[in-house]
Amino acid sequence: MPAIIDGKAISAQIKDEVKERVSALKAEGTEVCLAVIQVGNDPASTVYVGNKKKACEYCGIRSESYELAEDTSEDDLIALIDRLNADKAVNGILVQLPLPSHINEDRVIMAIDPTKDVDGFSVNSVGALCIGRKGYRSCTPAGIIELLKRSNIDITGKECVVIGRSNIVGKPMALMMLQENATVTIAHSKTKDLPSVTKRADILIVAVGKPKMIKADFVKEGAVVIDVGIHRDENNKLCGDVDFDDVAPKCSYITPVPGGVGPMTIAMLMHNCVEGA
Ligand code: GUN
Repeated sequence: MPAIIDGKAISAQIKDEVKERVSALKAEGTEVCLAVIQVGNDPASTVYVGNKKKACEYCGIRSESYELAEDTSEDDLIALIDRLNADKAVNGILVQLPLPSHINEDRVIMAIDPTKDVDGFSVNSVGALCIGRKGYRSCTPAGIIELLKRSNIDITGKECVVIGRSNIVGKPMALMMLQENATVTIAHSKTKDLPSVTKRADILIVAVGKPKMIKADFVKEGAVVIDVGIHRDENNKLCGDVDFDDVAPKCSYITPVPGGVGPMTIAMLMHNCVEGA
């Protein structure tokens, strides 16, 4: 059986490291502060935002919460962001996505000062990643790099296949693996004969958004499999994009759902906040 990569333990370790850095900054008179903005009452967003605030509290980061009505205008939201951009006491600004459909997400993300873009979603942050410069890294893929490194999984020279090409996970993930000297392929919904591509992978990173889509015949014997998905299955149990029971016997390492990639996103957000300070 494979080694199970324990995202819960690794994320706890990262949060403890952040907590120490926050405390050292406090001793020098610098407070770390994250502004969290939620527009509307999407239940999943409310859970995510609540978890982010809890993590801030654990790490000693002050969080400022802005809960705006569903019908808030784009201009009012941007006016709030402008105010927070100018506020020297705020190090990080996070706008929880998705936003209501009348608001242009791109315009909102671009309104955030790049020095406070702790989600790493802005053109500046993604551009910096692309050319290997310092900058905020998108939290989920950055968390996956930490999972691999802290599990002593060597990335250099490995065949890595990323399934999914979203701006938040797939694309930055591929760039980060390239930065770590992997040979990288991005597969997606239009890829022909997906199993023949994914079977090349020494490290397979799955962000397709379809419950249990990846079966044993998509995976090479001994591969490392990282599952970004989170869903409820037919029995209301949490599951990922990977059919864990089917795939695990073939892997050297695999992330479970829950307790794999999920907790890393918030840990890396905390890391980005302290970097910002
Ligand atoms: N919605 C789902 N994931 C994320 C995330 O990482 N950041 C933000 N801001 N919104 C999200």
